[in-house]
Parts: sequence; structure tokens; C-alpha cells
Amino acid sequence: MLRSALLNVMIKAARKAARTLKRDFGEVEHLQVSLKGPANFVTAADRRAEEILHEELSQARPGYGFHGEEGGQREGTDKTHTWIVDPLDGTTNFLHGIPHFAISIALQREDTIVAGLIYNPANDDMFTAERGKGAFLNDQRLRVAARKRLADSIVGCGLPHRGRGDLVLASRELAVVQEKVAGLRRLGAAALDLAWVAAARYDVYWERDLAPWDIAAGLILVREAGGYVTDLKGGEAPHITGDVIAGNEDVHRELLRLLKEAGRT
Ligand code: IPD
Ligand code: CA
Ligand code: CA
Repeated sequence: MLRSALLNVMIKAARKAARTLKRDFGEVEHLQVSLKGPANFVTAADRRAEEILHEELSQARPGYGFHGEEGGQREGTDKTHTWIVDPLDGTTNFLHGIPHFAISIALQREDTIVAGLIYNPANDDMFTAERGKGAFLNDQRLRVAARKRLADSIVGCGLPHRGRGDLVLASRELAVVQEKVAGLRRLGAAALDLAWVAAARYDVYWERDLAPWDIAAGLILVREAGGYVTDLKGGEAPHITGDVIAGNEDVHRELLRLLKEAGRT
């Protein structure tokens, strides 16, 4: 498959950062059984991966801005382009030795996300998309699932956990959604949740209280796979507002309506 120069840059950076993440993941599996646990080690792994991504991406595209979870906003001389990067999405999984985590890289031009990459080093799933050029899993073109009814759908979600999110609202939403769907999943890596919608593994997914680097790359993946991505008010910029719902036109509409209802009760 012929890839653009831009995607090649992103893939090269992701593969390089993934090499250290994979090594560190192997170490975490050992640390799991130690009393101290791997928490500090994982924080360092996270930062190491971000530094590699920053180095590689700035070398290939000097002047672009860089907005990473760990290092914050680094201004570039080119004010029109910014990388939005999560070096390790699914930290809690990583920390517990669960092989479901990812590197997420998006490129924003002016106000538009124009390219996205989500890579799970543990199973080599490489999801990529570029505006107007489709979404791919490795070399395979992606299309969102075609199921028309929520009743037949597998639904991904996020859940509040210690110190995070609105537990009361989440419980109301779950109560309403649970009885209407074929199955609910909470796998713990928002970027992969979105990539899985693009790949038709999930029919639809929603989550609240996310950051731009959790959503930006997944947003373009789902849209390029023919899906709909909005925030929970129906707005077009979920990476700014932090609430996201993604799926095909039908199940996106049906779930959004249900969640709005749950919010009102
Ligand atoms: C987290 C994951 C998780 C989501 C959290 C995010 P992190 O990102 O995407 O699935 O529920 O809200 O913060 O901390 O692992 O990069
Ligand atoms: Ca994240
Ligand atoms: Ca992270």
C-alpha cells in the first residue's frame, strides 16, 4: 500500500516510541508481583515515549506545535500545525499488565484534524487515517459497522473511577442504556475505543470527561470510516468539549437520544 509522506512520518515515530513501551511493558509484568508495584516506573515509561514522539515528529516537521499529555503545550514557529499526542493511552491497563493500550497521534491544521494514528504495540494493530483518504487498520480499509438498531449493538463506554467523573449521572446513563443493547464493554483506552468503532468491532461508543489527546486521532479515524462523531450535545468538536459519542448514523442518533433522556431524569 502506498502511504503519504505524512503518514510515514507518524508511523515511524509511533513505531520508535512503541519499542520502548514494549520493553517497559515486559518489565511491568515482572514488577506486578512486587510490593512496591510499577506505578512510578509507568510514569517514567509514559514520559520516555512522549519524548521520543516529540523528537521524531519535530525532526520530520520542524516548526509544528506539539501538545502532549505529559509535556503540555509546546509552541512552534508554524502556528497552523499542531501535533496532539497521547504517548500512552490506557495507562491503567499498562500498569496492570493488560495488553490493551495505545500511542495516539493526531495532526491539527488550523482548527481541523487532518490525520490520525492509533497504535497498540501489544498486538501491532496500526490504525491510520488522513482527511479525504479513508481509514485503515494496517493495510485494510475500514468501514464502521452497518447495524441499524441499538438492540443489536455492542456498545463501548467509559466509566467514572476513583476521583474522576460524575458517578450519579453515569449510573443513570448505564441503567438506561444497559437494557436496550446487545452488550456493553469498558476496555479502558479511549483512543482504542474510537479506533474499534472505525474498525466495526464496536457499533457505538460514548464517554465523558476526556482530553483532546484521547479523542483527536480517533475522531478522524471514525469519520474517515464513514461514521459520526460528536459530543453529547451533538456538537462537532468533541476533542474540545471532552464528551464523545461515535458510531454509524443510526446507532449514533439512537444512543445520543437515550443519553440525553438519561441526563434529564
Ligand atoms: C484514559 C483512558 C481511559 C479513559 C480515561 C482516560 P490515560 O487515558 O483513555 O479509557 O476512561 O478517562 O484518561 O490516562 O490512560 O492516558
Ligand atoms: Ca489518554
Ligand atoms: Ca496517557
